[in-house]
Amino acid sequence: MSSVIASTAIRGRFLDIQNTVAQAREIHDQVRYFEDGLLITQAGKIQWFGPWSDGQHHLPDQVEVQHYSDQLIVPGFIDTHVHYPQTEMMGAYGEQLLEWLDTYTFPTEIQFEDPAYAEQIAQFFVNELLKNGTTTALVFCTVHPQSVDALFQAAEQHQMRLIAGKVMMDRHAPEALCDTAESGYNDSKALIEKWHGKGRNLYAITPRFAPTSTPEQLARAGELKAEFPDVYVHTHLSENKNEIAWVNELFPEQKGYLDVYHHYGLTGSRSVFAHCVHLQDSEWDCMHATDSAIAFCPTSNLFLGSGLFPLKKTWEKQVKVGLGTDIGAGTSFNQLQTINEAYKVQQLQGEKLSAFEALYHATLGGAKALDLDGKLGNFNIGKEADFVVLDLKATALQALRQQRAKNLEDALFALMLMGDDRNIHATYVYGQCAYVKQN
Ligand code: GUN
Ligand code: ZN
Repeated sequence: MSSVIASTAIRGRFLDIQNTVAQAREIHDQVRYFEDGLLITQAGKIQWFGPWSDGQHHLPDQVEVQHYSDQLIVPGFIDTHVHYPQTEMMGAYGEQLLEWLDTYTFPTEIQFEDPAYAEQIAQFFVNELLKNGTTTALVFCTVHPQSVDALFQAAEQHQMRLIAGKVMMDRHAPEALCDTAESGYNDSKALIEKWHGKGRNLYAITPRFAPTSTPEQLARAGELKAEFPDVYVHTHLSENKNEIAWVNELFPEQKGYLDVYHHYGLTGSRSVFAHCVHLQDSEWDCMHATDSAIAFCPTSNLFLGSGLFPLKKTWEKQVKVGLGTDIGAGTSFNQLQTINEAYKVQQLQGEKLSAFEALYHATLGGAKALDLDGKLGNFNIGKEADFVVLDLKATALQALRQQRAKNLEDALFALMLMGDDRNIHATYVYGQCAYVKQN
């Protein structure tokens, strides 16, 4: 097929989930695995995908085939909730949410007033994502517009699909981190016009959480969402019991925490709410009715002692969910580690999380939570070519365990429970290799 110009051809073992599903039990039937497969990309998109035996005849002229004979190739991981300015404050000791914000988080975020500082940390952050096989993330910046510029500029260098936004926060935080209802609206609007849809960048209106926004600011955020319906809304919801009690005090006229956001027009199919550990039944119903999504952040929920997220409820109530690292309350950038903790969070509630369900949440399910499953999440032809090359045997212990693996599912589960950034052999973004592990 000489008419086809491909930029990349990758041969190896491929694993993905072919379609989104309504129930966890349906995932097994959607698992697609080629022991010897071929992926051809062109201009960042997947042009051909299938078994090598068929695909070798489709190879465009002059394309060099990169053969990963030992590894496992899966779609790029999707992190549905992370704070890039908190990269440097991971592992801050001893506090739960509200005290942790005051003691560690706000002082850290003040530094992002300086664009050079923001640029330095944004570069570090993007490299860390790539090093961990994460190709798309929904990201909190700080209140400073320059923090958003720094992140999108860093992402653009790799043509990475990131969604991000400036924090809106006009009370209950240090003066240096506060905007106003008016400036928060104006700055966010200018950033939407500058970045949303530029290359692969997408913008998220980002009120930090209900306690740090006045009703006026939330109303302005809702106006902005109405003016730009295809931008995202990204915030926190029902993470910690003291936080929920505080919201009830601050907004007595609303029925509950989610109602505050719903009242101001901030729910919807491009709204992502981090945590949702303690939702009421009526709030689950509202999440479903508005097609809003949850970012489940297990390492953070355990680190801050926030609680155990009931993943099973997302299937029962038909609410979209993805995995989030929630750096810097989260304790790892790595989605294998995040799955490891997600599994234990389910065990503590008497539930299971299978390897294939975990893969779904980290890839196609995460894409669906971000309303990007038409573009990302698996190897379907036409999708954007973001993927990770995983080394299953990065240590002697892992090699021993993998030799005993009973089948693919067992091998994948062992990788998830024992794996970390050492297992990320290479990360491809938009058809191009953006990271290779150095031994
Ligand atoms: N709620 C409000 N702000 C934050 C934050 O920065 N991290 C977490 N985990 N929860 C929040
Ligand atoms: Zn967060």
